[in-house]
Amino acid sequence: MRKNLRHKLFQWRARHSFRPSWYSVLVNPYFIARWYLYRSISKFAGTVSNKKILDIGCGIKPYQPLFKDCEYLGIEVGNDRQISPFADKIYDGEHVPYQDASFDAVLCTQVLEHANHPDQLVKEIRRVLKPGGLAYITMPFVWNEHEKPYDFRRFTSFEHNRLLNSQNLDIRSISPTCGVFGVCGQLISAYIVETFGTRYNIVYQLVTLLLCAPMQIIFLALDGIFKNNWITLDYVIIAEKNAQE
Ligand SMILES: C[S@@+](CC[C@H](N)C(=O)[O-])C[C@H]1O[C@@H](n2cnc3c(N)ncnc32)[C@H](O)[C@@H]1O
Repeated sequence: MRKNLRHKLFQWRARHSFRPSWYSVLVNPYFIARWYLYRSISKFAGTVSNKKILDIGCGIKPYQPLFKDCEYLGIEVGNDRQISPFADKIYDGEHVPYQDASFDAVLCTQVLEHANHPDQLVKEIRRVLKPGGLAYITMPFVWNEHEKPYDFRRFTSFEHNRLLNSQNLDIRSISPTCGVFGVCGQLISAYIVETFGTRYNIVYQLVTLLLCAPMQIIFLALDGIFKNNWITLDYVIIAEKNAQE
């Protein structure tokens, strides 16, 4: 009974955290970042059906429900880091444990900043993609240090461009998720909750509802009105492995 309740609570949090509806802003202090990422990945998921997908650095596989009719596998690093019970395989973080050209699409969301060797990881993404397969990569551009001490870098769009070109992937798009108001609203909301709320207790939910939610709504509205690419929370990169190979 208690286990069931805990599972339900976990699912509720995962949904409002990673696959938010508009009203999730009331319970999610990271709504702005997640909302934009979710919109982007939903759009991508809509373009792939009946495919074989690999999620590298899958965490809790938050986006799997979007790829309903796909075969969806996830891998995670082992070593001294926390091991995800959701992963289909645990690996060394450098040598993806699947054969060449095994997947139609590879997701790698919010992982490159944590990888010891991002060049090697992108090389592996390309290796396991089928010719014509797509890589969907996201990475924070403005965010505080997280998953400490395994947060090693942020990339500009030009570095994403260099990295993917150097590994012979054809870039379809490198897109910022939001503009300056999205960044400001999200950072202030995250700062407030991380300063005054303890994770997932009643104070956390009250702070989120009374302080973070109004702040995020106002800044999201401003971000929608004054659209700009001056700065962003995240970059979303879509790249393709050349179909001729
Ligand atoms: C911020 S979490 C992102 C999880 C999930 N992809 C998401 O979007 O919510 C970063 C994840 O990357 C994993 N990770 C770090 N280095 C990695 C590597 N070299 N290969 C695969 N996963 C890695 C971490 O264990 C962690 O689960």
